[in-house]
Amino acid sequence: MNSSDLQTVTIELAERSYHIAIRGSLFDNPLSYSELPAAHSALIVTNTTVGPLYAERLQRALAGKYPQVHTVVLPDGEVYKTWESLNLIFDALLGHGCDRKTMLFALGGGVVGDMTGFAAASYMRGVPFVQVPTTLLAQVDSSVGGKTAINHPLGKNMIGAFYQPLKVICDLDTLETLPARELSAGLAEVIKYGPIADMNFLAWLEAHMDALLAREPAALAHIVKRSCEIKADVVGRDEREAGLRAILNFGHTFGHAIEAGLGYGEWLHGEAVGCGMVMAAHLSQRLGLVDAFFVHRLKTLIQQAGLPVKAPVLNAADNAGRYLELMRLDKKSEAGEIKFVVIDQPGRAAVRSAPDAMVRQVIDACCAG
Ligand code: NAD
Ligand code: GLY
Repeated sequence: MNSSDLQTVTIELAERSYHIAIRGSLFDNPLSYSELPAAHSALIVTNTTVGPLYAERLQRALAGKYPQVHTVVLPDGEVYKTWESLNLIFDALLGHGCDRKTMLFALGGGVVGDMTGFAAASYMRGVPFVQVPTTLLAQVDSSVGGKTAINHPLGKNMIGAFYQPLKVICDLDTLETLPARELSAGLAEVIKYGPIADMNFLAWLEAHMDALLAREPAALAHIVKRSCEIKADVVGRDEREAGLRAILNFGHTFGHAIEAGLGYGEWLHGEAVGCGMVMAAHLSQRLGLVDAFFVHRLKTLIQQAGLPVKAPVLNAADNAGRYLELMRLDKKSEAGEIKFVVIDQPGRAAVRSAPDAMVRQVIDACCAG
């Protein structure tokens, strides 16, 4: 794929369909926003890290279209994905007299994107918004599909709404400033699409991991496009997670327990998901669905991406018990029964429950290394 060509993926959701534009030199080009509805004002939501890097350029790109362009800068980090930060967005919207047509622009990673989307879903019962994701994780996953949320001290992403953006602008150039650890975290969500949907993509990732870690533009363009295509297909068939969409949570049940158990921000979301996928693959093996070679292959790729594969101990006295307690809070749980996304054959995922004793064995094995 030539990285200088504009790639477009469409999320097909009838009247709520929208395009994901993928290329470099996009976010600061006014043409990227030309088809959006007119409005008197726009609000850029960003954070203290991304704002200084990119907000002024986005502001300039939007200035010709919106008479007033305001910016609100949130504190940076998963620990700030809270009511307090959400309120800063509402304070800015109300303070600037923003109306029902005001367009919100989420400029940042998944944290900014999820909070901006939730603010857009609820301000005046819904205003339009655009995702301008600047992390790999946000470009391949969180900016697409309309899940928006904030965290609650008792559980991750527990308060939120399904609310689709009008457009997603994946500017590959913004990935140049991303710290290496964040690039690896994004690769976890990319790798996810292999075992759940496309083993050819997994093989491609195995062959091109060095190019990806070196941020070769063509390799990055390929994974952003292929990831968005797979996510678009799933979301187009099950927007509100009645069933199928749960497969996108492969690794997340264990992963969310790691994030909450260690304290938000200790491990990055993508790191927790990467390790969670290793744990979910082990569980799939114990359930007799995949063989040891598959688990080894996935674990090796996750390690190659620079991600941790040994699960952390969350509690010295009863570690597996603590994992189970946290996982019962997962949104997929039903009447206290934990539902896991497992691989029922390489390239296909399913949602299953498993006996606690078996899950304890998986946790013990994965925490041992
Ligand atoms: P993040 O938003 O915290 O961004 C990671 C870090 O990189 C932050 O410090 C950020 O300021 C910085 N950053 C962002 N872009 C940068 C750039 N171009 N250059 C330099 N620094 C940059 O984390 P994330 O990994 O993007 O997103 C994780 C969040 O996404 C989690 O809260 C998770 O729950 C959520 N998520 C949501 C969905 C969904 O479907 N809505 C899917 C997956 C993850
Ligand atoms: N990242 C999971 C989903 O969008 O459903």
